[in-house]
Amino acid sequence: MAPREVVERVAQLREIIHYHNYRYFVLDDPEISDAEYDQLMRELVELEAAYPELVTPDSPTQRVGAAPLEAFETVRHRAPMMSLANAFDRAELEAFDARVRRMLGVDSVEYVAELKIDGVAVSLSYEEGLLVRGATRGDGEVGEDVTQNLRTIRSVPLRLVHPVTIDVRGEVFMSRADFEELNRRRAAEGQPLFANPRNSSAGSLRQLDPRVTAERPLDIFCYGIGYLGETGLPAKRPATHSEALELLSELGFKVNPHARVCRSIDEVVAFCEHWEQQRRSLPYEIDGVVIKVNRLEYHDRLGTTAKSPRWAIAYKFAAEQAMTVVREIVVNVGRTGAVTPMAILDPVRIAGTTVSRATLHNEDYIRDKDIRIGDTVIVHKAGDIIPEVVRVVTSKRTGAERPFVMPKTCPACGGEVVRPEGEAVARCINARCPAQLVEGLIHFASRNAMDIEGLGQALATALVQQELVKDFSDLYRLTKEQLVQLERVGDKSATNLLNAIEASKSRGLARLLYALGIRLVGEETAASLAAHFKSIDALAEATVEQLMDVPEIGEKIARSIVDYFDQPQNRAVIEALKELGVKTSEDAPVPVGEQPLAGKRFVITGTLSAMTRQEAEAAIKRLGGTTSGSVSRNTDYLVVGASPGSKLQRAQELGVPILDEEAFLNLIGGGPGGDHRA
Ligand code: IVH
Repeated sequence: MAPREVVERVAQLREIIHYHNYRYFVLDDPEISDAEYDQLMRELVELEAAYPELVTPDSPTQRVGAAPLEAFETVRHRAPMMSLANAFDRAELEAFDARVRRMLGVDSVEYVAELKIDGVAVSLSYEEGLLVRGATRGDGEVGEDVTQNLRTIRSVPLRLVHPVTIDVRGEVFMSRADFEELNRRRAAEGQPLFANPRNSSAGSLRQLDPRVTAERPLDIFCYGIGYLGETGLPAKRPATHSEALELLSELGFKVNPHARVCRSIDEVVAFCEHWEQQRRSLPYEIDGVVIKVNRLEYHDRLGTTAKSPRWAIAYKFAAEQAMTVVREIVVNVGRTGAVTPMAILDPVRIAGTTVSRATLHNEDYIRDKDIRIGDTVIVHKAGDIIPEVVRVVTSKRTGAERPFVMPKTCPACGGEVVRPEGEAVARCINARCPAQLVEGLIHFASRNAMDIEGLGQALATALVQQELVKDFSDLYRLTKEQLVQLERVGDKSATNLLNAIEASKSRGLARLLYALGIRLVGEETAASLAAHFKSIDALAEATVEQLMDVPEIGEKIARSIVDYFDQPQNRAVIEALKELGVKTSEDAPVPVGEQPLAGKRFVITGTLSAMTRQEAEAAIKRLGGTTSGSVSRNTDYLVVGASPGSKLQRAQELGVPILDEEAFLNLIGGGPGGDHRA
């Protein structure tokens, strides 16, 4: 017989450990350190070993204990586990709402929208608060008894806070990080990898040996009640689904925190759109949103079809993965010379677009995943991320697949391709490689760089192929005659392009530095450099140490900048840009006493050709003026560009002086960065 103090200490330890389990695994908000927790567990394990008669099935030591099974038993669910009808767009959600309201004869219905966790559906049965059985969904009527495996999941309570008899429905899942870690471990042990977190959850839950399941980082979110007995309830029975979720939390279950009550189907749609956008920000995978009528009385009135309840629907996100075949592997040469292998695929639709190419990143990636030409593969596309080959479906191999060999020479220029030791990326080292130039030009002209509208892939390729452009400075030497000779360039687009090129001269130092495509110099770094050095000449002379004085510039970036300016051909391009009128320095602010537009109020309407709206406003401010969005009696000037709006009429009515673009440029001295005193 165990002494009374031991009996009491064991009971006390179980209470304490239960509580900390709950803080850690359900609330994700631990109060004590892992070491303190381990100490408590050890004490309980030792006492139970000394007094085995004290062991109970709900003891926290009893999560893993059962011996391996021969096979799973089957269990009939107390209430069937139904599946859900699907909706794929707003119209289908609206149709669901209309049907629900019509059947109930009401004008509006409240819903609960919940994340649809991409895992494995299970049912947990408790008798008077004790976990007695856990089962998979099976065919909805009969599932497999996986009690001993579910017991190993720390967020599954073995004993509830109140002694209720209840069947709880939930989704067992694995977080993305845990899934990746598990696969890393399996790769190291030479075991086959799981394709995704859902498969690894399903595989882990269907282990005959619970000790294997216990090693897998499974978790659960509970989202519904299948059956609820009359006794042991802490308060009256829930009347709504949201109250049911609150009850589940109160009993000690882990409930997803993102469930929302929605007053209308518009709110539901907004919730769905939000999470379709934000799904990547969650640490686990979701494949949609489940929408449930909130009032439980309505559930009874709406009833079910043969397969699914009429009071709920699943909004399914567009799939982000698809299976297809790698027809060829080609290499792309980027603006830094990086030679990137790309898979040419049989076109497939993924998340709403057709995908026919996917990046393979580099040689190591292809080797690690053993991707061969002819392989059937899973392609992934998330949001606006470029499609990527995730893995090979090896079971579809025929033996006719061919391994890929990285070319030794650049496919664009024939130059040498070099892969420095310790680096994953192979590069074409020919500084005059036309493929690099095309990509460089596209970057140079891009919106946040020099913003040359109309200079995209097709035109950049044509300019390089026709040898009209050999470096960035050649852009500023282009003539209309040259441009109209190119395919698909008409008189008007040539004029527009030349205007855009002209306007790009005054973008300023920060954007120019970004546009040049110096390795590791992104927009923010370019802005810091411009603010610090004020001119490209000063920057070009800076040493690594001086560069590292600029906040946020570390040694790697500093070296990359110095390397860039060490190249004589880069210096030559910059000199040429300067001579051709490209602005390569920041403007010093005009001293207050000398500001010619001091106190003048400007309004701008229409599109200016020489600068953007923001640049015009900046120029006005630099010279002491202010800008506003609407014309009033206090307006001093209305600046009018192409296609002006109603502001022009208003200014005419009020007699406000009107400046066309030319007059405005004269006033500010030629351009956004021009010298007003000239
Ligand atoms: S409610 C009768 N809510 O999605 C209603 N299901 O067919 C039962 N799922 O495999 C489902 N998250 O396990 C519901 N918040 C959630 C869910 C959810 C995931 C799964 C469920 C089932 C499928 C629905």
